[in-house]
Amino acid sequence: MRIWALSQLRCVGRNADAGPCRGRLAIAAEPPPREAGGELREGAVRCESCGASYPVVAGVAVLVRNPFRYFRGFYPFAKGYLADIGGMSTPFEVWLHNRMLADLEGKKDKLFPKPQTYDERIAHPLHKWLGTYLLTHYFPPLPSGDAILDDLLGACHRQGPVRVLGNMAEKWAGSPELGLDMGCSVGGLTLRLAGFCRRAIGVDLSFEKIITARRTLLREPCGPAPLRIYREGISYDSEPLPDFSVGNIEFVVATGSDVPLDSASAGVITSCNLIDIVNDPFEVLAEKVRALSAHGVLAMSTPYLDHATAVTQHLEAGTGDPRKVVLDHLPGFEVIEERAKVPWLLRASDRHYDLYLDHCFAARRAAH
Ligand SMILES: C[S@@+](CC[C@H](N)C(=O)[O-])C[C@H]1O[C@@H](n2cnc3c(N)ncnc32)[C@H](O)[C@@H]1O
Ligand SMILES: [Zn+2]
Repeated sequence: MRIWALSQLRCVGRNADAGPCRGRLAIAAEPPPREAGGELREGAVRCESCGASYPVVAGVAVLVRNPFRYFRGFYPFAKGYLADIGGMSTPFEVWLHNRMLADLEGKKDKLFPKPQTYDERIAHPLHKWLGTYLLTHYFPPLPSGDAILDDLLGACHRQGPVRVLGNMAEKWAGSPELGLDMGCSVGGLTLRLAGFCRRAIGVDLSFEKIITARRTLLREPCGPAPLRIYREGISYDSEPLPDFSVGNIEFVVATGSDVPLDSASAGVITSCNLIDIVNDPFEVLAEKVRALSAHGVLAMSTPYLDHATAVTQHLEAGTGDPRKVVLDHLPGFEVIEERAKVPWLLRASDRHYDLYLDHCFAARRAAH
């Protein structure tokens, strides 16, 4: 965790009245922090108001309301992943274990619920969908050997939602102090925000994606492994990722329905293809409204996946018009730019692409 990020990040705990705490965070004395070059590599941050503590594992701050329960959900996977990149120190691991044990709520509560084991064959860099996001965020389309197809792939790349949202955000937001990218995945759009915001923060609920974003853009706790580009079946070529080291960017594990930022603190918020896959889309929209500054710009995209629970149960809400429902949940906002069908192309292998057509828009509070 970049130490400068402490000035921006806030507690996601609850205060005595069950309202949001949003206290300031500071490096905790326990477990012993490991710091180097402006980075908290391992340790915890503690809320100065309510005392809640959040682990920082291999540089990744886990800022969710119950971080030890979050960790229990995939601890065997995390241990396996971290063993490949230097692991955890013994005092830290003991502390984390104790906190996970203290979190058990009763005899029937399992220490490691639904364990997802670490398997080198499916983990980064082999994890196909993680690789797919790295490809769409950081690489031009790979030549297919067919001119017509290459035209299509090139057009989708040039006009894809990461690029369109980045352009909309930059065009309307000016040069704000802070940009927030919600559901950032491996960080390509956050990187774009870092180009015109003083600082940019990406949040995603996936530890694996956040650590991949940090490895790719911050080279912390180490540089990224080569990307495997799948060809046919499970055959692949390896490609190094582009060489980045960006100073004004940070990534943390957090949910879009409880963003670890102060209210009105972000001058621009982006979210690319998030709203239709969350359990609580209205909470995510409310958090965007809360965290955005008075003059701030929101730029978001979604394909309104027709089979996604968020769409069928919430965003259509009996209207059959999820776009309208989303806009209704941005009270007082006006749309300042909109694109109806932005091609979002995801490449799994030479023979497998998924194509969605996104709705993209930028909006801000109407008084402007
Ligand atoms: C469909 S992907 C889109 C990723 C990236 N924005 C893009 O368009 O390439 C959705 C991302 O949201 C993350 N995610 C899912 N639920 C979330 C939540 N409640 N809060 C934050 N991120 C979430 C997933 O881990 C995933 O990285
Ligand atoms: Zn707190």
